[in-house]
Amino acid sequence: MSNVKVGATRILAIETSCDETAAAVIDNGRHIRSNMIASQIALHQRYGGVFPEMASRAHIEAIAPVIRQAMEDAGAGWDSLTAVAVTKGPGLPGSLVVGVNAAKGICLAYDLPLIGVNHLEGHLYAHWLAGTGPAANGPAGESEQDFPLLGLIVSGGHTELVLMKGHGEYELIGHTVDDAAGEAFDKVARMLALGYPGGPAIERAATQGNPHRFKFSRPRMDRPFDFSFSGAKTAAWYVVRDFGGMIDGKPNPRVPVFDLAASFQEAVVDWLVDKTLRAAQHYHAHAVLIGGGVSANRLLRERMATLLPMPVFFPPLSLCTDNAAMIGAAAHFAYLRGARHDLDMDVEPDLKIG
Ligand code: KG4
Ligand code: ZN
Repeated sequence: MSNVKVGATRILAIETSCDETAAAVIDNGRHIRSNMIASQIALHQRYGGVFPEMASRAHIEAIAPVIRQAMEDAGAGWDSLTAVAVTKGPGLPGSLVVGVNAAKGICLAYDLPLIGVNHLEGHLYAHWLAGTGPAANGPAGESEQDFPLLGLIVSGGHTELVLMKGHGEYELIGHTVDDAAGEAFDKVARMLALGYPGGPAIERAATQGNPHRFKFSRPRMDRPFDFSFSGAKTAAWYVVRDFGGMIDGKPNPRVPVFDLAASFQEAVVDWLVDKTLRAAQHYHAHAVLIGGGVSANRLLRERMATLLPMPVFFPPLSLCTDNAAMIGAAAHFAYLRGARHDLDMDVEPDLKIG
């Protein structure tokens, strides 16, 4: 017997787009019954970044126990599920396919509908999970007047400004033309031998540095809300070189690592805040939703909160980085719109939003 009310949903969601094997059970797109994540950070630390082949193998090992644990933690029987949702893209092909195949197997075994979810849409819907987003302070997304909302997704793979005009209605208004913001943090951290993941390492180093010592010129973009971070990365490299370059894979001791980390973080945060502010004003956004691993950055949080005139929402850190709960939240709203996928659904590694 199903213990979910009529019209309500209970969704098992699976996420394996990059380096986290995750499964969650979500009721009605808002309530997290369980949220399991097996992280591969320790595995990839050895390579200073995500190694796709290793990621795919680690997903294969982790996927069944992670799903079983999510169902157990939720106290949910298979017959109580409304649907199975899974990230179908964007992401690493060999990683996506593990989650998608697991989801299909469960759908086949228990005769459940399959819902393929865009990972980026998932980052936006993290804000609908209970107590995290606009819904916590008043009902966002409950009526048409709450929209448009502006989403900024900043992670190791993405830097996207998305206008959310309604549920499932997106317009991509800006994106990075080269490196993602998190990727730039990771590359500069590697250059400064600060470790992986680079964002938290740069943030720690920056606390001891002068953010105004080095100036990074703002890149000029053809489209007003696009980003570019590779110039800043190259500029950071020139500073390292000017102070003596690398010795045995580490910056020469003369390189002012803390000042450089602080100045680089300052520049990236400044650009992210500036474009987000201008886009939010241009499109008359009622609120700004921020997600992705880089949104853990404290300077980014402080600046966004103080400089943007409209409400700005950051989910808790565990829902900012990749997780399956956000996929379950997005799937609920997709399910209500009638979204169902056939069991021959393929992964879409280059899937876009809007
Ligand atoms: O969303 P996420 O966990 O994974 C994907 O890339 O999808 O984001 C990871 C990225 C990494 O590039 C990491 O360096 C960055 O988020 N990151 C940060 C911080 N914490 C994680 N960047 C800046 N400041 C942080 N505190
Ligand atoms: Zn992500």
